[in-house]
Amino acid sequence: MNKKNPKRLLIIGCGGVASVAIHKCCQNSDVFEEIMIASRTKSKCDALAAKLAPMTKTVITTAQVNADHAEEVAELIASYRPAAVLNLALPYQDLAIMDACLEAGAHYIDTANYEPEDTDDPQWREIYEERCKRLGFSAYFDYSWQWDYRESFENAGLMALLGTGFDPGVTSVFTAYAQKHYFDEIHTIDILDCNGGDHGYPFATNFNPEINLREVSAPGSYWENGAWVEVPPMSIKREYDFPEVGRKDMYLLHHEEIESLAKNIPGVQRIRFFMTFGQSYLTHMKCLENVGMLSTSPIEFQGQQIVPIQFLKALLPDPASLGPRTVGKTNIGCIYTGIKDGKERTIYIYNVCDHQECYREVESQAISYTTGVPAMIGAMMVLTGAWQGEGVFNVEEFDPDPYMDALNQWGLPWVVCENPQTVE
Ligand SMILES: NC(=O)c1ccc[n+]([C@@H]2O[C@H](COP(=O)([O-])OP(=O)(O)OC[C@H]3O[C@@H](n4cnc5c(N)ncnc54)[C@H](OP(=O)(O)O)[C@@H]3O)[C@@H](O)[C@H]2O)c1
Repeated sequence: MNKKNPKRLLIIGCGGVASVAIHKCCQNSDVFEEIMIASRTKSKCDALAAKLAPMTKTVITTAQVNADHAEEVAELIASYRPAAVLNLALPYQDLAIMDACLEAGAHYIDTANYEPEDTDDPQWREIYEERCKRLGFSAYFDYSWQWDYRESFENAGLMALLGTGFDPGVTSVFTAYAQKHYFDEIHTIDILDCNGGDHGYPFATNFNPEINLREVSAPGSYWENGAWVEVPPMSIKREYDFPEVGRKDMYLLHHEEIESLAKNIPGVQRIRFFMTFGQSYLTHMKCLENVGMLSTSPIEFQGQQIVPIQFLKALLPDPASLGPRTVGKTNIGCIYTGIKDGKERTIYIYNVCDHQECYREVESQAISYTTGVPAMIGAMMVLTGAWQGEGVFNVEEFDPDPYMDALNQWGLPWVVCENPQTVE
């Protein structure tokens, strides 16, 4: 029987983010001695494995899997025997993959919290509507589904590490780092996600269009004084002068790390999330929304059921194809205000990433890069035992120092700036 190797990782998904994470695992063969790439379309896994094999000591195998079915994933885990599973498919598969990890005995790691594919499912809808009323935000995704697995992971002696992308992920680790080294109390957190890149298309999304458009067309919300405040989509706009990128308009969005940071950062009074958007993107999105193209509910078309947003995805440029044509930089980070040694303090921790440099290194644009690198680092924390635990955890619950060191080492160096411009 195949023996479990603490340096063996099963990666599910082979899209934009996974491709970067897999490149990075292959650069880090001491930690990732063996990886399996398993996805819905095996030919993509085979093509990537063939490209990387000559350049790495990591032993790569591939498999076909439909991760909507927990039993298929469990069978794969049982035969490959990895120490952990890195889920880089879609948030729709989170729960099935967690079930499989429990059944077959592997740690679980992801970059995005659970959201159902079918938001018309009456069973899910009932729970969702009760949550909207109780918590006061109406995004389709929230952590409750995965936090409910805590006891099962504890009982199985396994760890689930949630949200190790950039945001959530690095932004949450920045917060743990600020809390550990810069503040006695953090009072406010503004997470700023700026993409100053230009791909030359009138409209394209930088990662999976379905997930991206669902996120940005939803109402915005923020956490203030112990409660959620929800506002209409794109109704709060600010301008910010981003280091190395310049002045950009940004809009307040609901974002998943607000939920976990509100729980895990004691005494925090306000958490907001802003993302930059150009006017062309917003005009296209509004138009698509007005004509019903962002809908997730199936419609009948010429005798066939189609989901409008999935049809739109088929028309839009594949995010993976944006790499060669995207120029410019991203700047993603967090502004913290609070108290240190009785005095008020404000800092901004951020990373700047250059689209073309990412492309030269791993043939991807910076959005996939800034998510794929932290996905590899999260998996490294689990495989090396730098982070250990039994249960379900968000990344800010662990010691940030080894992760922050790894960001510097693996391509996402960060800067701490004292007294930055703040957001009104
Ligand atoms: N935290 C962050 O900062 C952050 C930022 C961006 C993205 N993300 C998350 O990263 C994840 C990947 O995003 P992406 O842009 O790489 O998406 P993507 O390019 O669409 O890739 C998704 C991959 O998952 C595979 N897949 C989909 N359904 C599957 C199923 N049922 N079984 C097996 N494989 C399946 C797809 O296979 P096919 O090739 O057959 O379609 C594809 O290879 C998403 O969860 C996204 O929300 C997180």
